[in-house]
Amino acid sequence: MSVKEEKQSQPQTGAEEPEGNSPGLIPVYVMGKRYEVPEGLTIMKAMEYAGYRFIRGCGCRGGTCGACGTVYRKPGDYKIQVALACQKTVEPDMYIAQMPFFPVNRAAYEFNELTSAPEDVFKLYPELFRCVACNACSKACPQGVEVMDAIAALKRGDISEAARLSFECIQCGLCTSRCFGELAQYHMFQLARRMYGARIVPRAEHLTDMVKVVNEGKYEDILEQLKGMKEEKLKKLYQEREAEPVSAGEDWTPKDKTYL
Ligand code: FES
Repeated sequence: MSVKEEKQSQPQTGAEEPEGNSPGLIPVYVMGKRYEVPEGLTIMKAMEYAGYRFIRGCGCRGGTCGACGTVYRKPGDYKIQVALACQKTVEPDMYIAQMPFFPVNRAAYEFNELTSAPEDVFKLYPELFRCVACNACSKACPQGVEVMDAIAALKRGDISEAARLSFECIQCGLCTSRCFGELAQYHMFQLARRMYGARIVPRAEHLTDMVKVVNEGKYEDILEQLKGMKEEKLKKLYQEREAEPVSAGEDWTPKDKTYL
């Protein structure tokens, strides 16, 4: 994530202060410089309040894109901690630094030419075997992914397990920043998940059948009708539809079977 300091200690647009009682100001240090920011703000909003502007890669602000990897340390503690700037709220005297872009190896491949064989992963990412199982990657993950275990799964060719273990990865790159084997774990995991989704997980047979029915045009008329409806009518129809109960079993079907 790239940031630019514009003005000091001036609230910026988008840096909302918490509602309710006027919050107290707390000191934080951004890249070594002291600022007073309202408590309760996320690191991202606190930085904006302090006068920083996010000029590139500030992402989703919702904890899903991984663009805002941040390291911080608290006073009296040697430990470097990690967080997503859009999720973690500031604490007094935090020392905060944004992670720069890491120029990691992202292998180029034509996915259709790959199989689900572990050798394909090994060929694209031979540095996988530089992992010495120090576990610094797992400790650096703000998502709680067991990064080292997922890498171990890949090393033994278990793509399904690597995909499962890395499911929560949002590719922030903090694991890579701590890895002295210089692995780009998150790119390896993305490949594993692609292989798993496209080549390993069993196909849902009912989905194949349904795609066939759709392609044969069974729903063309109703889709045309829906497209021609006024928004209010469409909303009403949606709200009054018979929804599948949360506890429904596999054999649940709606009362109106016209479009089954
Ligand atoms: S901005 Fe997307 S995860 Fe923080």
